[in-house]
Amino acid sequence: SNLETLIQRLPKAELHLHIEGSLEPQLMWDLAQKHHVELPFSDVDAIKSAYQFDNLQSFLDLYYQGADVLRDEDDFFQLMWAYLCKCHEQNVLHAEIMFDPQTHTERGVSYDVFMPGFIKAIEKARDELGISVYLILSFLRHLSEESAIETLEKARPYYEHIKAVGLDSSELGNPPSKFERVFAQAKALGFKLVAHAGEEGPPEYIWEALHLLKVDRIDHGVRSIEDPELMAYLKQHQVPLTVCPLSNLKLCVIDQMSEHNILQLMNDGLRVTVNADDPSYFGGYLNENFMALAEHVNMQASDLITLVQNGFKASFLPEKTKQDWL
Ligand code: HPA
Ligand code: ZN
Repeated sequence: SNLETLIQRLPKAELHLHIEGSLEPQLMWDLAQKHHVELPFSDVDAIKSAYQFDNLQSFLDLYYQGADVLRDEDDFFQLMWAYLCKCHEQNVLHAEIMFDPQTHTERGVSYDVFMPGFIKAIEKARDELGISVYLILSFLRHLSEESAIETLEKARPYYEHIKAVGLDSSELGNPPSKFERVFAQAKALGFKLVAHAGEEGPPEYIWEALHLLKVDRIDHGVRSIEDPELMAYLKQHQVPLTVCPLSNLKLCVIDQMSEHNILQLMNDGLRVTVNADDPSYFGGYLNENFMALAEHVNMQASDLITLVQNGFKASFLPEKTKQDWL
């Protein structure tokens, strides 16, 4: 269709992508064989069929289990390189990519294993594919703030490779207020700030992310719609929301794609972007997320163009570089 051609053709930015969530079943299988890790699956197809979720937690349980096959530097290189090749295929020219250090350090895999793997793939993609990448160090919110502080400190040798810090994992019961001190430390170090809020959690968590953590963007934020005052604030300050349509469907945040509120958020004047979140687990990379919207909500070509432009506007690229894409 025309919209499909347009989506494929437009240069795009990806702002909400967990690199561990881009681990494809085939690579998971191959790495499990390589390291003699036992997976509770009989073959690659059995991994794929297990990807049916009731909520965020049921997904996270599989996501952390899957990440356990990542053991040495080359595994992390392969993971990042596979994702960046996908970016090239889909005409994604800038990606701001989250990684979860604690998912690895908690299993005895250190920064000196995953960071060199990531950095080598990122440099290769910059040189050979012309893709720019920023890394976002994301804290696991089901763990303590002390653990987050230690995670930020251990990253010190790699600060020059990290653009921002974020907050992900189990939202309900782990409000942003739990991480006020570590976000203040990260801000003092010069990092940009993002946090998942208002995916499963209430609008109050979005207010906390804004006022207590002082984030530059909200990841997801689809529950903003429940709070008119919050909507007004997000509009006035043009705080970006990194919305992930296929994720919302797979994690039962919505029952059907046709019920997604993204057009309403956009038509109310918010700076909304479209993103893939965990593409291997949710059934699509960035273009498939745009396509799902084109098929199931009443999107015009002009809406798609606005959403794609918002991706660059909401990025952490320098203003001059952004202008080149708008
Ligand atoms: N939400 C919270 N935590 C996550 C997600 C998500 O969508 N993906 C990976 N970790
Ligand atoms: Zn996410």
